Amino acid sequence: MERYQGQFISDATRQFLSRSQRMLIGGEWVDAVGGERIEVIDPASGRTFAQVPAGAAADIDRAVMAARNAFEAGAWPKMRPVDRERLLLRFADLIEANAQELAEIEALDNGKPVTMARHVDVALVVDFLRYMAGWATKIEGSTMDVSVPLMRDRELFGFTRREPVGVVGAIIPWNFPLLMAAWKVAPALATGCTMVLKPAEETPLTALRFAELALEAGYPAGVLNVVTGHGHTAGAALAGHKGIEKVAFTGSTEIGKLVGKAAIDNMTRVSLELGGKSPVIVLDDADPAKAAAGAAQAIFFNQGQVCTAGSRLFIHKSRFDEVVEGLSGIASGMKLGPGIDPSTQIGPLVSAIQQRRVLGYIESGFAEGARAAAGGVAGEGDGYFVKPTVLVDTRDNMKVVREEIFGPVVVAMPYDDLDEVARRANDTPYGLAASIWSNDLARVHRLIPKIKAGTVWVNCHNILDNAMPFGGYKQSGIGREMGRAVIDMYTESKSVIMAL
Ligand code: NAI
Ligand code: MG
Repeated sequence: MERYQGQFISDATRQFLSRSQRMLIGGEWVDAVGGERIEVIDPASGRTFAQVPAGAAADIDRAVMAARNAFEAGAWPKMRPVDRERLLLRFADLIEANAQELAEIEALDNGKPVTMARHVDVALVVDFLRYMAGWATKIEGSTMDVSVPLMRDRELFGFTRREPVGVVGAIIPWNFPLLMAAWKVAPALATGCTMVLKPAEETPLTALRFAELALEAGYPAGVLNVVTGHGHTAGAALAGHKGIEKVAFTGSTEIGKLVGKAAIDNMTRVSLELGGKSPVIVLDDADPAKAAAGAAQAIFFNQGQVCTAGSRLFIHKSRFDEVVEGLSGIASGMKLGPGIDPSTQIGPLVSAIQQRRVLGYIESGFAEGARAAAGGVAGEGDGYFVKPTVLVDTRDNMKVVREEIFGPVVVAMPYDDLDEVARRANDTPYGLAASIWSNDLARVHRLIPKIKAGTVWVNCHNILDNAMPFGGYKQSGIGREMGRAVIDMYTESKSVIMAL
């Protein structure tokens, strides 16, 4: 750890790591009421390199109360939309100014390559904060001409207003810790909500630095609170809290359902971004080399720990061998290493648990008769590495084809015709994303409406834009984030009818 840390981390990151980490509640940096702490592990070495408070129900109570107070009184509710816009822009500038430090912390905490953390994660966060800043001044209602039968002689006037939903509880995962924080926090701050954010226990660090920069930007105390803690304690307490108006969750479908049920009991508004098993569909006209490179990016980006990962690769049988060969060559050539090393192409998985889970899936594939065209084993060393893996000779009912693996593992399968591939692509409980690789416009357009997924990419994969709504069909979740759609998720609509 020290060796590559000493080699690659900046003074700012060293300073951040040298201090005792606390949580942010009501503008104060505090320890957990229970006094317990969580060890933060460097997945590239398995060693502990930081600690954070293990917040639990009592800490969530305090944070929700702070958020409630900030929502109802003080400077925040009086702020004009243009003030919220300006604050969010200032916040974005501070993230940009500290981009390298945030990327380094993210790389150490999650294991992801630092270059990706800097130019994907942090870059997207800055853009998204600026995009949402613009929405603060563009939240609109409508006016309606109303007709009411028994009030013919009265003049009536109807309009709608959108009001901030209130206190938002956000529970986020470890695969894009800072970006997922921004996806929840930015719409809340743009619309005038206040928030309690619970980062994943595996990757709590960038959320703390993010919150510190929010204070520096000038957000009033209590507007953004961060409680670090475990899912079954802090997470469950937040999801089921009677003092919040909305819960925003990203994570597994299993926990998403628990969160959804807890929320409905209190009639808390809820949005869920859950798992996926996204198909990558290569048509027979596609250039095999481009398709192989695209398929590699679709599954190996972020070590495959992406909800939209292209984990099922359907290749027309006439191109199957060429694409699999190209993809396997790319997989075998990727450089594994610590995320903090700028030359690393594939980092470790986030945790020992995740490494075991992914290796367990690969072994189940072998036991059921699949074969590895590349990878199939752990990487060397103490870190939680898994080699980029391409599985072939699968059947559609195998676990590796049906379940979300959430690692650098793709199953490659041949198909005959478009109806068949559409049916097999949809033969999954999930519906988050899909990609189609072809320049045959007519066939691409025929396929798009058949695919049951929240996002369909053509000749690209894992491309997100702030203006495009993002979310899932089926077991991949409820609701859409990003774009205009996210404003509806963080506001309530109020209808006003006036008799003049
Ligand atoms: P998880 O769903 O347990 O964790 C996500 C978040 O939920 C974390 O902040 C966690 O602390 C919290 N949480 C856990 N239990 C909770 C509870 N009872 N109440 C409220 N919050 C709770 O995901 P986990 O266990 O880290 O990963 C398991 C699998 O989930 C992965 O292998 C992957 O398949 C999937 N996953 C999908 C993600 C996505 O982006 N769609 C992200 C992370 C995991
Ligand atoms: Mg879990």
